[in-house]
Amino acid sequence: MISATRYSIAELHEMYDQFACQCDETVMYDRFLVAERAEGFHVWFQNDSEPYLDLVMGFSALNFGHRHPMVMKAMEEAVRTLDHVHSFNCESKLLLSKVLAEKTPGTAQKRVYYPVGGTMAVETAMKLARAYTKKTKMVSFSNAFHGYSYGGMMVTDDAIIDKGQYAPYPGEVLRLPYAECYRCDDEARCSFQCLQIAERVLSEDKDIAGLIIEPIQGHAGFIIPPKEFIVGLRRLCDDNGILFIDDEIQVGMGRAGRMFAIEHFNVEPDIMLLGKSLAGGYYPISAVVARAEIWDCIAASGSGIGSTFVNSPIGTYVALEVQRILEEEDFIRNAERIGAYFTRGLKYFERYGNIDNVTGLGLTQSFEVVKSKATKEPAPEIAKEIQSEALRQHVIIYVGGVRRNRIKFIVPLWVKKEDIDMIVEKLGDILESVLTKS
Ligand SMILES: Cc1ncc(COP(=O)(O)O)c(C=O)c1O
Repeated sequence: MISATRYSIAELHEMYDQFACQCDETVMYDRFLVAERAEGFHVWFQNDSEPYLDLVMGFSALNFGHRHPMVMKAMEEAVRTLDHVHSFNCESKLLLSKVLAEKTPGTAQKRVYYPVGGTMAVETAMKLARAYTKKTKMVSFSNAFHGYSYGGMMVTDDAIIDKGQYAPYPGEVLRLPYAECYRCDDEARCSFQCLQIAERVLSEDKDIAGLIIEPIQGHAGFIIPPKEFIVGLRRLCDDNGILFIDDEIQVGMGRAGRMFAIEHFNVEPDIMLLGKSLAGGYYPISAVVARAEIWDCIAASGSGIGSTFVNSPIGTYVALEVQRILEEEDFIRNAERIGAYFTRGLKYFERYGNIDNVTGLGLTQSFEVVKSKATKEPAPEIAKEIQSEALRQHVIIYVGGVRRNRIKFIVPLWVKKEDIDMIVEKLGDILESVLTKS
């Protein structure tokens, strides 16, 4: 019988070397670690007796932390009743659609569809935008990440993926600057150059179907734009008949201190994309929420919308329970309150010459590692050293962004002040050992 725990680490390493894909995200950390179990904030690995503090949380898929009892219960209930049906409805799917249609911004009638994984939600949104507007091009932004499918990569910033090797892509994309104020020449006297560029591009090109944007950029390391930027883009989409696609696969579901990150900007998207933590990280379900008139432009038969595991009874059941948990528990308000406390804790690290631009909204917290604050020159090598030292000290952190110098911290929504104190203390130890060595 094949049993994962029968093998030594040396044997597992051998299997990795011989049989595992060597170009996926398992190469992110510089130690070969084999995950064994997890609980709350922590992951245990087969080759280490001490737990690791997980500040990546399944890349934002685990807004409830590892193995939250309520989410586990929902998952157990889900698999006990109905595993999978294809091409039939189930109660949880229909009820979840009602809940999401009612909760998402905007009072117009909406419909919801549940692909597998975030990337497929992005693909679906682009199909909808083209079918509805009868136009073809997409607009996306610097630093953006929207997934690894062809459509997802097409709208992802070139600096994130070595895209050339996979060309060609299925369409034309116009890339606009995101409002990354810290790195803007205009920062001191902001005249919204980013919006001026957007205005020119969106009004001149008459073939733009959709604009896809993360209201807070996740993969880039939680870049938070000013409200005027998102509001201005919404207006420009309205003026030019372009669909506004809100990709909050990473920062939605309470992470930003609101159920939906876009609520911070008081903007109604035409299409909203959710994923990752939608089912608490237990099922790779995503959601595409759009006005009924947008969905209804696609002919019902031969629509090209579907896949074996879409509308999953398990995924929709757990996602519905997640909605109930978020309503009954105080997690989202907690994310907002504790987020502010976390930012204050991280600000303390700005006393180091290499740490700058600490930002946070809800639990989207991050800072940049720079060579000097005067030049703001990114320091990806130091950021990598911090990540390695963190791992040595049993803390898992993510270093990302197009300059590979942004460190973001992902914690569960139920985090308490004492947890933040513990995290800040640990980060203090890590930064002290990297940044003060001569
Ligand atoms: C904003 C955003 N969109 C889309 C995706 C792709 O989602 P998935 O990895 O589930 O395919 C991600 C993943 O990180 C994301 O952050």
